[in-house]
Amino acid sequence: MNTRNLRTIAFAVGFVAAGAGFAADKVTYEDNVLPIFRNNCLKCHNPDKMKADLNLSTYDALMTGEVVAGGDLDNSLLYQLVTHAEEPNMPPKSKLTDPEIATLKAWIVGGLLKDSGSKAVMSTKPKVDLALDPDSLGKRPEGPTPMPVEVLALDPYQRTERTSISTAIAVSPWAPLVAIGSQRQVLLYNTDTLKIAGIIPYPKGYPHSVNFSANGKLLIIGGGRGANLGFSTVWDITKGEQILTVGDDLDSVLASDISADQRYIAHGGPDRFVRIFSTDTGELVHKIKKHTDWITAMRFGPKGKYVASGDRAGGIHVWEAEPGGRAASLMGHRGRITGLEWASTNIVISSSEDGTAKMWNIDEVRPPSACAALKTATWSPSVAIAAPHCGAPVAAPSAPLLSPATSPPPASPATMASSSSVPTGTAKSTFGTPPTAKRSPASR
Ligand code: HEC
Repeated sequence: MNTRNLRTIAFAVGFVAAGAGFAADKVTYEDNVLPIFRNNCLKCHNPDKMKADLNLSTYDALMTGEVVAGGDLDNSLLYQLVTHAEEPNMPPKSKLTDPEIATLKAWIVGGLLKDSGSKAVMSTKPKVDLALDPDSLGKRPEGPTPMPVEVLALDPYQRTERTSISTAIAVSPWAPLVAIGSQRQVLLYNTDTLKIAGIIPYPKGYPHSVNFSANGKLLIIGGGRGANLGFSTVWDITKGEQILTVGDDLDSVLASDISADQRYIAHGGPDRFVRIFSTDTGELVHKIKKHTDWITAMRFGPKGKYVASGDRAGGIHVWEAEPGGRAASLMGHRGRITGLEWASTNIVISSSEDGTAKMWNIDEVRPPSACAALKTATWSPSVAIAAPHCGAPVAAPSAPLLSPATSPPPASPATMASSSSVPTGTAKSTFGTPPTAKRSPASR
């Protein structure tokens, strides 16, 4: 008996009820799906009688109907109708058997194979339209404070022998929530109760970067496995669902962010490319080579127009998300860029392993080539922002953007130095990775 007969028998006796888990054998249109359609659907969906303009009798005709999306059951109308998750129920007057539905599910999840020789066609389209109305930007999101309410597991996805390293941290702009990257998971803590608010599993590696979207509903996680795999994933923390993954890099993503209007994702890592993806299609729209060292920081500006990227050698560039051109280069740091934040639509603050934080005015450093290197506008509590070599000093921000650091302020063009006079605080609470002890995380 050849393998094909074996497979047919396996299906006949209903092994396929295991659905997607039944991975060893390919579920194909020709072998498994067409027979189901023949028995249940073709009398209404054939070339002569195309109800709803849908012909299910050949693979190509079915694919033009756009009722299935490879790997994505939610976006597969056909699946939604046969499971009665959506109306009109199909077939109209009966329901497919569970093994038949399981076969259709396995076929969709497996990438819509035509026959045993074909390649999987996976949908890259995100499950939801993420783009936000530009008018809503910068405002408090409507509805309840974006918190994970009983949608995420509270038990650690992975418990480690020792308290493991925290790889990244982000604070929600609107909710009492902090996200901490850890080994194979991201931990969400409620900063009011100091209890765990949810665990996001990260089975494929290390999360190296976490950031909340501007409305606090989404968490974007960049990471992967060193010299192996890099990608960014977007979670809706209010629903506890992963809604989008972009990137298929060959090295781990070290920094990633989503634009305020949620139309773009930018990430980077050791291969030095800035990659910008569209959340509409999930596809790479710009791949930019300019950094001379690993990309270690990435942050979109408040309106989503610009994204700043920093590298291990201290270089910072600012890009326009669309059309992807360089808006400014901010050269002045002498060590790895450890953080980038935007104080307004044109002011970027950078921190570096060189011991300083600097503040830059994007508008003042244009065009990129002319005097960028001279424009290391730096900041201290009293000096505010000065762009001493190119053009007039920039107006000081009306209120200090950072808490007062040194007193009296340093005389020369100052940076916010990590000198000994910077007040040190003591941590009031400690969030950590799930410890060895079998204590319930909720008890902390
Ligand atoms: C008795 C006739 C009949 C049978 C049998 C039938 N359908 Fe339908 N199908 C229809 C009609 C009529 C519509 C349009 C319904 C409407 O728009 O309200 C439709 C619509 C659909 C649609 C929506 C297409 C679109 O683009 O909106 C899908 C998908 C579909 N059918 C799949 C199936 C599948 C799969 C089967 C078999 C498991 C099946 N149908 C069996 C009559 C049938």
